[in-house]
Amino acid sequence: MAEIIIVPTPEDAGRLAGTAIADLLGARPDAVLGVATGSTPLPVYDDLRTRLAGRDVSRVRAFALDEYVGIDRDHPESYHSIIQNQVTLPLGLTPSLVRVPDGQAADLERAALEYDEAIRKAGGIDLQLLGIGSDGHIGFNEPGSSFASRTRVKTLTPQTREDNARFFASIDEVPRHALTQGLGTILEARHLVLLAFGEAKAEAVALALEGPLSARVPATAIHLHPHCTVIVDDQAASRLADRSFYEYVFANKPAWQGL
Ligand code: F6R
Repeated sequence: MAEIIIVPTPEDAGRLAGTAIADLLGARPDAVLGVATGSTPLPVYDDLRTRLAGRDVSRVRAFALDEYVGIDRDHPESYHSIIQNQVTLPLGLTPSLVRVPDGQAADLERAALEYDEAIRKAGGIDLQLLGIGSDGHIGFNEPGSSFASRTRVKTLTPQTREDNARFFASIDEVPRHALTQGLGTILEARHLVLLAFGEAKAEAVALALEGPLSARVPATAIHLHPHCTVIVDDQAASRLADRSFYEYVFANKPAWQGL
């Protein structure tokens, strides 16, 4: 079972995930991080900005989960721009070691294959940060995605486009497609850290953690992973039937066991 940690606020979650990442980089200065975009990982990046200040992170490598198809890579809402402005520059990573799928490639299938190959060549992702969509997606693996899927183009659901419209001037500007790591790709990372905050995620979190394994809820794929940590705030945990059990397990966590 994934470890489920319920914390009062997103900032608390940011500190927990930030500590795990900083510890990993302490042990492996050239570790490979899997980074996400959207609102959810922001408290982690905020935490890391101070936690990593003054440390040499020049050898850290990173791969983003996904990129929109159909907008320019220099568009302020492209994930290329977002990762550069929220991760690479503020954390001081080496730009050439941070990759985002090429959503503008003339041959997207080839770009997808090359992305998976680049992750493999890097030795695989050590720690993958994940958010969850209100429709249960991780990466942009929308409902119906195969648990064995590799990096490829997916069509965004109307729900996802609506959720992401807040980043654009209007919903019409939200792309309809994305190049995303597949569920099979994500499951190859050595440690998954899934974060979710707020009431709007409560239903997806409950279905992902306590519902049956189903392609309808792509995030249920985390149950196929041997090392997954889920960190949610009070509101996102509000529909979990076994919440008190998860709290009991965390309160009795052996001191030797890290995240
Ligand atoms: C982002 C990603 C998505 C988001 C999800 C939640 O790279 O792959 O799965 O994590 O859509 O988005 P937010 O965090 O904005 O609620």
